[in-house]
Amino acid sequence: MISQATIDAVKDRVDIEDVISDFVSLKRKGQNLWACCPFHGEKTPSFSVSPAKGIFKCFGCGKAGDAITFVEEHDGLHYLEAIRYLANKYGIEVEEEAKTDEQIQHQNERDSLFIVLNYAKDYFQETLLKHDEGRSIGLSYFKERGFNEKIIDEFDLGYSLDQWDAFTKSALAKAYSEDMLEKAGLLVKKENKKYDRFRGRVIFPIHNISGKVIAFGARTLKKDAKPKYLNSPETEVYHKSKILYGIYQAKQAIRQMDNCYLVEGYTDVISLHQSDIANVVASSGTSLTDDQIKLIHRFTENITVLFDGDTAGLKAALRGVDMILEAGMNVRVIVFPEGEDPDSYSRKLGTSEFKKYLAENTKDLIAFKAALFAKDAANDPLKKAESIKEIVGSIGKIPDPIKRSVYVKETSRQLDIDEGTLFSELNKILIGDRKKKDKGKGKPEHPDLPDLPAEVVEAEKKVSAINPKDSQAAQERESVRILINYGFNEIEEEYRLHDYLLEQLEEIDFITPIYKEIVDEFKKELAEGRVPDSHYFIQNGSSEMKSVVVDLISERYDVSNNWNDKYEIFVPKENDILENVVFTNVLRLKFRVIQQLILDNLSKMKEAKDFDAEEHHFKIHAELKKSEMEIAKVLGIVVTR
Ligand code: CTP
Ligand code: MN
Repeated sequence: MISQATIDAVKDRVDIEDVISDFVSLKRKGQNLWACCPFHGEKTPSFSVSPAKGIFKCFGCGKAGDAITFVEEHDGLHYLEAIRYLANKYGIEVEEEAKTDEQIQHQNERDSLFIVLNYAKDYFQETLLKHDEGRSIGLSYFKERGFNEKIIDEFDLGYSLDQWDAFTKSALAKAYSEDMLEKAGLLVKKENKKYDRFRGRVIFPIHNISGKVIAFGARTLKKDAKPKYLNSPETEVYHKSKILYGIYQAKQAIRQMDNCYLVEGYTDVISLHQSDIANVVASSGTSLTDDQIKLIHRFTENITVLFDGDTAGLKAALRGVDMILEAGMNVRVIVFPEGEDPDSYSRKLGTSEFKKYLAENTKDLIAFKAALFAKDAANDPLKKAESIKEIVGSIGKIPDPIKRSVYVKETSRQLDIDEGTLFSELNKILIGDRKKKDKGKGKPEHPDLPDLPAEVVEAEKKVSAINPKDSQAAQERESVRILINYGFNEIEEEYRLHDYLLEQLEEIDFITPIYKEIVDEFKKELAEGRVPDSHYFIQNGSSEMKSVVVDLISERYDVSNNWNDKYEIFVPKENDILENVVFTNVLRLKFRVIQQLILDNLSKMKEAKDFDAEEHHFKIHAELKKSEMEIAKVLGIVVTR
């Protein structure tokens, strides 16, 4: 672990302008610096850096944070990795917290593995480019496959001589230990024999997200040698299920294109790069894992899966991508013509035709499935039922209910099946899933209840149309914004805004955990006699807190400033009307809470088991409505009775 002292030293030293300038070229305009956003593609700059506040924010895509989060996001690093990077940049010595002997040994071993793997990469590369056998067999193979020198270099491709121990000999001569070679998966020991794992093969190094080589894939060049590809075993630094081939070379492009192409093999990745498509990674022939999906999710919400043109396996293969839906990502698919994979087809068509093919054949996963099954289902009721199960099964994986209902509508149209049927099928699946999840938690299941009186149903509709939950979250956000920006302001003598606001918030249960955390943290600091400001949260908060707070301090302020500059319109400074702002916010918040209570009460009324219970809730309903009206009057909001 890096010591807290080092982390503090880094935080004190970083200069956001300097840090970001290493990645994008910034232009000064007024108080801030501007550039085209490195996190999404754009032609006019909406990415701004405020050196005074120590933060950046893109008004296009919404990405925001401080110098440390910038490095995290830009390079896909974890917090401590970003700290290490910055420490290195500023020549700050990284102090490691006292570690146990075991931890030290573990760290040393990992470091040694990286070093020996890097040596192996260099060795294989040199063999490919300089050695006679490497050139005549390995290099000419790559050339035949159409790989150019630039791409061979970008992917660190190599060759291993067709001998038992050429690599081991060379490594031992360089004083690498046999033990390390074995732990790195480069040397195999079997029945008193020792030999190189990779012999007479072309080598595809596998890089981790920060570009270190962690393993190798190696393809034989002999006609029927088995296996075709031989890969490194799992090691201390290589966990197959957590890495994707090509992620290091692709991460920047994935973010810029806001999409990731997913292919099967090493050669698919490389050929696509050569066709000028850099946002591509490979699952290396196995089905995707949750960790791999998370890895892509760090850079985009969108995955496009490319399938070989082999119709027999397609339906099963499509099922394999449902777990991407489950992660809440958007999934699109492209299918290639029979007998083609992305590698062969991109070479066949050439760059521009191939890009056109991708653009024209990208289909939304669910829509694609529906179309595929629609063909089968056309005249066969049995198949139709099966198709519904299949498609609704996928829709059920999507966590967002709004997206789900859009897909139900779409599918109903495509398969010519009535929406109600699809929804009830979907509900069955959702309830089934929930039951599975609830099992063991001992939650009671609700027996079906009789229908509600019509007016209760009506009332519920009206109240839910306002969606108090969303509005409440918005008001919670507003409370936090006011608290952080103006908490220290005096409303009256000796009475600060935070005193008033926190007192009012006392009776409200926040529904958004992050806003509650910020308020709690604020209180904690106050109790210690300090009034925290935005800077406090950006310095000390969790990464989620940081990003929320950055958003909160840049938002409205920047807008009004721009208005002032651009149109010379007078926008009243929020400061001047602060009392009013905070008072209204508190009322709005209470208003939303009451509306939520109304909803909750209505659903309790729905579940009431007898008339007494129903009447009890009806009385509560009347009381709540009265309060709602009172607040509404003050706020000038019209509510339904
Ligand atoms: N693979 C593997 N081990 C194997 C076979 C395949 O790890 N024994 C992985 C490799 O990552 C390979 C991918 O699965 O790239 C896809 O396999 P395949 O389609 O057989 O290979 P291609 O990438 O098409 O390779 P080539 O064109 O060189 O035959
Ligand atoms: Mn192939």
